[in-house]
Amino acid sequence: MIFFDNQHKIFHLQTNNSSYVIGLYADKLLLHVFYGKRLEHLMEPFAMMDKSAESEFDWNPKCMELGEKFAPCEQTLEFPTFGDGDYRPPMFHGSYGDGSTVTKLYYTGHDIVAGKPELLDLPSAYVESDDEVQTLIITLQDALTGLQAYLYYTVYEKWDVITRSVRYDNCGTEPVILRYVDSAAIDFDRMDFDFVHFYGTWARERQMERRPLFHGDQYVDSTRGATGHCQNPFVCLASRDATEDYGEVYGLNLIYSGNFHSGAYVDTFGKTRLYTGIHPFDFSWKLETNTQFQTPEAVMVYSPEGFSGISHRLHPFIRQRICRGQFRDVRRPVLINNWEATYYDFNEEKLVQIAQKAASVGVELMVLDDGWFGHRDDDHSSLGDWYEHRGRLPGGLEPLAAKINALGMKFGLWFEPEMISENSDLYRIHPDWCLHVQGRRCSEGRHQLILDLSRPEVCQHIVDTLSSLFTRVPIEYVKWDMNRNMTEVGSAAWPAEQQREVAHRYMLGLYGILRTLKQQFPHILMEGCAGGGGRFDLGMLCFFDQIWLSDDTDGVERQYIQHDSSIGYPFGVMGAHVSACPNHQTGRTTPIQTRGYVAMPGQLGYELDLNQLTTAELEQVRQQIQLYKELAPVFHEGTFYRLCTPEAEQHTAWEFVSQNKKTVIVEIFTVQAQASAPFRPIRLKGLQPNALYTDRYTGKQYWGDILMEIGLMRSRKHDFDSEMLILETD
Ligand code: GLA
Repeated sequence: MIFFDNQHKIFHLQTNNSSYVIGLYADKLLLHVFYGKRLEHLMEPFAMMDKSAESEFDWNPKCMELGEKFAPCEQTLEFPTFGDGDYRPPMFHGSYGDGSTVTKLYYTGHDIVAGKPELLDLPSAYVESDDEVQTLIITLQDALTGLQAYLYYTVYEKWDVITRSVRYDNCGTEPVILRYVDSAAIDFDRMDFDFVHFYGTWARERQMERRPLFHGDQYVDSTRGATGHCQNPFVCLASRDATEDYGEVYGLNLIYSGNFHSGAYVDTFGKTRLYTGIHPFDFSWKLETNTQFQTPEAVMVYSPEGFSGISHRLHPFIRQRICRGQFRDVRRPVLINNWEATYYDFNEEKLVQIAQKAASVGVELMVLDDGWFGHRDDDHSSLGDWYEHRGRLPGGLEPLAAKINALGMKFGLWFEPEMISENSDLYRIHPDWCLHVQGRRCSEGRHQLILDLSRPEVCQHIVDTLSSLFTRVPIEYVKWDMNRNMTEVGSAAWPAEQQREVAHRYMLGLYGILRTLKQQFPHILMEGCAGGGGRFDLGMLCFFDQIWLSDDTDGVERQYIQHDSSIGYPFGVMGAHVSACPNHQTGRTTPIQTRGYVAMPGQLGYELDLNQLTTAELEQVRQQIQLYKELAPVFHEGTFYRLCTPEAEQHTAWEFVSQNKKTVIVEIFTVQAQASAPFRPIRLKGLQPNALYTDRYTGKQYWGDILMEIGLMRSRKHDFDSEMLILETD
């Protein structure tokens, strides 16, 4: 997987289908040689690329440590820093005791080890045995300041993924102030790419956007203290002609849940630097002597088969080497959540009635959402007071949980542990426990403030409070919500010069809390949420078994969100619910069948009062749940294909092929019917050409090659219609 050629000074990192090549120039500087299709013959191409070519233009500064002809700004660099003539965004930028910001981190050695060392305090991809990956650790040192950097590259050969991170060690005599600490930068000697990212807002998360690269910097980011609804750290560079199944696409993601930037910088020579990391804006970190700083881990993937190739690599990788714990490989319970059914208007009797009806159609878990604690009658109070609202639940949670359990269902509960209401007992006792800046009024979001998780005692309080509840009440599921972004980022616990560490320290505190709770309560299924999908990222997926994808439960808009999210994330991590109509977010009415089919590929739940459905609708729900229980492994572990794109074609078509290739599910949705619409067959993918597939519902038979080459002809449909085909072969 990792080879070092000492004669040519080349590191070659090889996955099943990709190669990543680093060159060591003048025994000092790391050059980026190549990332792309797997190479078998390394020596010749490298010899042909003369990385020390004489600079064409004297104006470009030469780095004298590397030779009179070496102009860094003309090179593709592996670990760019600032101060010696590279003017693109650096991966590292810091300042030293003398106030200078020039860094020359040069190679001092390397190690190639089996397995993957753990990252300090941060979540990361993992391994199940040391022989499945190799890790390259390159050590760099700045001779003048004593700063050391360790570059980590782990090669997930079978998954076609390489992960990357950096650890800094201050071996000097004075503190170093870290300002840029990117996790990865990949230099390309071309710019004929499109930059692809996923923008959105509350209830409209992760909509794909694609535009050609231009000279200069183009990036997406978050300074909200969370990855946010508005952008996602996952970005791609796609060759201009790349489509769903053709062309080269590079994917880059970050295992982090806080402020980030992910972008592409194109220099004057048409070279592109793709990068991701903690956002340098409003960040600095005082690295004391003999202390270390760990960057989040970046995930790199290359596909020569368009966007589907990105998904086909990232889906198994995320499912198998990011997600973890006892729920990873099992079907999760179908749930009912009372939020859109009742909002704050509930009592024990009403909840039990909802649960009874749900149990009768096969639902397995009842989730009590917001409003069960403190004096919470609306969203103005009580966050932080995690004890029962006696007005609503006079007997407390135990009798309710017992009644749910008696129906054969598990019991789950909503929390928003990172938050505090000004109107709460916790705030009255600890007014300085929230993020704030002395002397300034805190801005409120959803009438609430954010607890200061950069303080260990605040984190400990959350762990203690939740642990005692988890021990007292038979809770088997937690919905962990987070409903506002950071403002007035400041902490009473840190000195002036470390205030810009607070947002990152918050993330470290949060990860620490989740790590402890997950270790203590491995049997509790955890679903992340942040006003829907406001923190839908790989950092959270190291702890949360699934994430509530969006507060938008509309059967049409959900197609867009799920479709575009699926480019970088598998369906199995997406919480997806069927809700009432007219839909509470859009006012649209869609058939219950369509709502069910849209939700089924995700982690299925219902978020409505089933008592309000007609007998016929309820029967459909019963059948949906029965079918889902059978098909969940195909949806979650099978190979997923996007066949039609809702934006472009007014139809959405998704296909799931089981691991053993014997079951194929095709879902087709009409977004908007058109008069005189062209008839277009839907060509399936990934089938066995010589297998005969039988349609479970009609009994019709089709050969695999016919389905893939000629396709299925569908009849005209109405707005919001849907159908599901199940094709089976022996
Ligand atoms: C957020 C969540 C919702 C619901 C409400 C409760 O908006 O995304 O699903 O839990 O909070 O207040």
